[in-house]
Amino acid sequence: MATETFRWGILGAGGIAEQFARDLMRLPDQRPHAIGSRSQEKADKFADLFAMPNRHDSYAKLVADPEVDGIYVATHHPMHMRDTLMALNAGKPVLCEKPFAMSFQETKTMVETARAKNLLLMEAMWARFLPHMIQVREIIKSGVLGEIIQVRADHGQWFVKDPEFRLFKPELGGGSLFDLGIYPISFASMVLGTPSRVTARSTKGFTGVDGQTSVILEYPTGAHALLNMTNSAATPNRALIVGSDARIEIDRTFYAPTTFRVIDHKDQIIGGSDKKYVGHGLREEAIEFVRCYRAGLKESPILPLDETLSIMGTITEIADQIGLVFKEFAK
Ligand SMILES: NC(=O)c1ccc[n+]([C@@H]2O[C@H](COP(=O)([O-])OP(=O)(O)OC[C@H]3O[C@@H](n4cnc5c(N)ncnc54)[C@H](OP(=O)(O)O)[C@@H]3O)[C@@H](O)[C@H]2O)c1
Repeated sequence: MATETFRWGILGAGGIAEQFARDLMRLPDQRPHAIGSRSQEKADKFADLFAMPNRHDSYAKLVADPEVDGIYVATHHPMHMRDTLMALNAGKPVLCEKPFAMSFQETKTMVETARAKNLLLMEAMWARFLPHMIQVREIIKSGVLGEIIQVRADHGQWFVKDPEFRLFKPELGGGSLFDLGIYPISFASMVLGTPSRVTARSTKGFTGVDGQTSVILEYPTGAHALLNMTNSAATPNRALIVGSDARIEIDRTFYAPTTFRVIDHKDQIIGGSDKKYVGHGLREEAIEFVRCYRAGLKESPILPLDETLSIMGTITEIADQIGLVFKEFAK
């Protein structure tokens, strides 16, 4: 029997929403079906790009649309809790963009609401679901690396210094930690779990949000994660997992589809992947979300909600240490 098409409702007609919809078009059993925007004109323009039948001039109308099977929250992170709760309260499962929320406390509210309503909720940390990350997890599980000693990862991007751009704007959750740092932090969590100690240092950017933040995470095993994030310069965006017997070097850009090598302690390449990927890669999180939905799961075993809580706990601790005041981000 053919699988019914999963009909997505996209909340917010912005940049990542368009990339997500474009990548969804590569899937035979999912489609962008409805868009919700604060403006009808924007909703129509977005819907026309993908021949979407349903276009709404409010997020409330989108989440109430009976033809929508699940909501993709693609607004800025200070609105993620509000928009996720709106969708859950309308009875819809939710895939919520990264960073999941603005704090551990907000994350807890979102997770508790989904659990109370018995609805699927998943963090849209797309990197986690990419083919090379699946391979990396299998290699770690095989034991070939030995004991994990350290993880290193950076995420730095160069942007025009426009104070109106969301990465520089405090009220849109700007700064390097929330927008860029989430990738190395989530990567360290995937490899090493929850840190036992967090140490962060930061330099403010020209609008007062963090321009560069460096973090050391320590783990009960003695392992360290050394992470750097900046919205002031383009850094290599590579990642390393160093084990007592071998290491994995993930090439630029480590959180997008890419290549990697496994290198032993004598510097011999013993594995890796140079596989080419077609498309953006955002569809992989959609595939996992819909797989969970069809299986009746309420969270993904690949990125469980307790891990999202742990990751947001680490980010909240870093934000506290570097003096990012959450009320600055109030809507
Ligand atoms: N997974 C990834 O690779 C990736 C990449 C980029 C961004 N992101 C995340 O996705 C989220 C959105 O980023 P984006 O780059 O798509 O941003 P964007 O292009 O600025 O779009 C965000 C959308 O949010 C809506 N919105 C609601 N309230 C708003 C307000 N007060 N001011 C401005 N817009 C408002 C707007 O939609 P309407 O006008 O239609 O209502 C806007 O188009 C962020 O949390 C970001 O971190 C993820």
